[in-house]
Amino acid sequence: MASKISLTLPSGQKMPALGIGTLETNSEEEVEAAINVALELGYRHIDTAFVYQNEKPIGKVINQWISSGKLKREDLFITTKLPLVGVHPDRVEMFMKKSLENLQLDYVDLYLIHFPVGFKYQEDGPHMFVIENGAPVTEPKTDHAAIWKKMEEQVDAGRAKSIGLSNYTVSQIATVLKSARIKPANLQVEVHVYLQQRKLLEFCKKNGITVVAHTPLANPNFNKFLEKMGSKPKKLPDILNDPVVGKIAQKHKKTAAQVALRFLLEIGVAAIPKSVTPKRIEENISIFDFKLDCKDMKALNKLEVGEPARIADFKAIRGIENHPDYPMK
Ligand SMILES: NC(=O)c1ccc[n+]([C@@H]2O[C@H](COP(=O)([O-])OP(=O)(O)OC[C@H]3O[C@@H](n4cnc5c(N)ncnc54)[C@H](OP(=O)(O)O)[C@@H]3O)[C@@H](O)[C@H]2O)c1
Repeated sequence: MASKISLTLPSGQKMPALGIGTLETNSEEEVEAAINVALELGYRHIDTAFVYQNEKPIGKVINQWISSGKLKREDLFITTKLPLVGVHPDRVEMFMKKSLENLQLDYVDLYLIHFPVGFKYQEDGPHMFVIENGAPVTEPKTDHAAIWKKMEEQVDAGRAKSIGLSNYTVSQIATVLKSARIKPANLQVEVHVYLQQRKLLEFCKKNGITVVAHTPLANPNFNKFLEKMGSKPKKLPDILNDPVVGKIAQKHKKTAAQVALRFLLEIGVAAIPKSVTPKRIEENISIFDFKLDCKDMKALNKLEVGEPARIADFKAIRGIENHPDYPMK
């Protein structure tokens, strides 16, 4: 079932409200298969990032679909992100070009600054961090205005249709807005039933910034990622087994995941659940044949936990929380 709801960006571009996330795919074959299944099922919005190291296989599948005539480039909404080692005015254009080369595309629909903290860069190594005393070295305080100016140049050059931010706070977005010639079109941030981000969403709405929810299911497998990064596992909030969500799911003959995703659509936020499991890829997009009513929404609103329910705090990157621009204090 195709995604029937879209958000309109300030440029007039339509972003399908349900896209597929691609963090933590294990092999090129796995991500290629998942994207093929997703496109067959009607997904037209794909979220990736330079750091996910899967732009190449994703680009390969997209280009196969385009060259075979099954899809046109303009049917797709592709987002990728400036890595943390690119959060410096001298490196924005270089990383934008690297992503386009990986994706084998002339442009992306949306280019986001992945995180408001920059790191020193070296060409070699999978994450390109400069490591000292066992920890990656950060750049000094982020120059938001200078970096945003370079992001705007990517739109001018036709490499990105729209530009935006990810994991920024209200005050950091306000700083960007002050000097922006092209306003951020989008904020990608963690939003789910347990972390509803009402103030941030209200601020974005007032400023014409669309919002995409990352980690929309509160990633039940996040500890596998932490383990891979050498970090300790943490207690994860379990939306998919929440009895309130379960009761609403039963009422609509849907699954808890479908209710959690539909909740985001009802509050005007797009969602990019990640899955490489065909059944779940289908489950996650099958949310356009039901609606949550006022009673459901009232019950779901009450499930807000706030900050303790945050999954993606980036603390797996050692020392990141000591940077003045770390947004999740
Ligand atoms: N901008 C950022 O900083 C940022 C941060 C985090 C994430 N993101 C983006 O947001 C996307 C989504 O976030 P996420 O991947 O962290 O978390 P998520 O989408 O909340 O959860 C993904 C996990 O849930 C499982 N899953 C998916 N659908 C399911 C279902 N219907 N029932 C049960 N389990 C299900 C998946 O397993 P299987 O794959 O094994 O099916 C996967 O392990 C990412 O992939 C990435 O594109 C961006």
